[in-house]
Amino acid sequence: MAGQRELHDHFFKEAKRNGFRSRAAYKLSEIDDKRKIFSKGDAVLDLGAAPGSWLQVASKRVGKKGVVIGVDLQEIDAFDDTQIHTLVCDVNELTSDMLHEASDVTEFDVIMSDMAPKTTGNRTIDHHGSMRLCHRAIDLSATLLKPDGHLLMKLLEGEAYPELLSRAGECFKIAKGFKPKASRAISTELFLVCKHRKVHIPVPEQVAPSPPTGGW
Ligand SMILES: C[S@@+](CC[C@H](N)C(=O)[O-])C[C@H]1O[C@@H](n2cnc3c(N)ncnc32)[C@H](O)[C@@H]1O
Repeated sequence: MAGQRELHDHFFKEAKRNGFRSRAAYKLSEIDDKRKIFSKGDAVLDLGAAPGSWLQVASKRVGKKGVVIGVDLQEIDAFDDTQIHTLVCDVNELTSDMLHEASDVTEFDVIMSDMAPKTTGNRTIDHHGSMRLCHRAIDLSATLLKPDGHLLMKLLEGEAYPELLSRAGECFKIAKGFKPKASRAISTELFLVCKHRKVHIPVPEQVAPSPPTGGW
């Protein structure tokens, strides 16, 4: 698999040379070049954002009028770029109030997730961990993503993928897998690009919007 190793090293070196925090930047760039996810002025929520290369790519692509918020279990080193905001949080605990505190934005044009579970080396366990994170991203899309907005998710392929794809198809007009060049061919990593959120999609109870606080 010398070719794959060379490809991996190539993107790693390119990322360093161009000031990206990880080679994952090239996966997102290719996905957006081919599937057109971002528009100028978009508000973007990045789930599992550390160390931050997707934040760097997204912020460039949405331009100065856009805003990008990254959420991760780990602290994300600050950016000079003032349109990027970050929040330390488990996405399973994330609420719109927390997002409001971090940036004032609680409705997004794009939600993206590069989240991965802590890998165990067991393909089945890792696959199901990845599926749980993807279902959480769809849950959050029900309340945080604008109708007609887009959701991009990384996943590890396996037996429960068809069920995820079918759920994504119920919530979005288009849901299709994509494998960028920077994803090694040997890995089961795949990206699911979901475009144009349908207006009415089921809202899971745990992410229902918080009731308004304060009096009239
Ligand atoms: C592959 S890295 C993301 C790389 C990032 N897209 C970039 O370009 O720099 C996956 C991240 O998902 C985060 N993550 C995994 N589970 C999470 C969870 N439940 N809540 C928040 N972040 C999570 C991990 O902490 C890790 O930083």
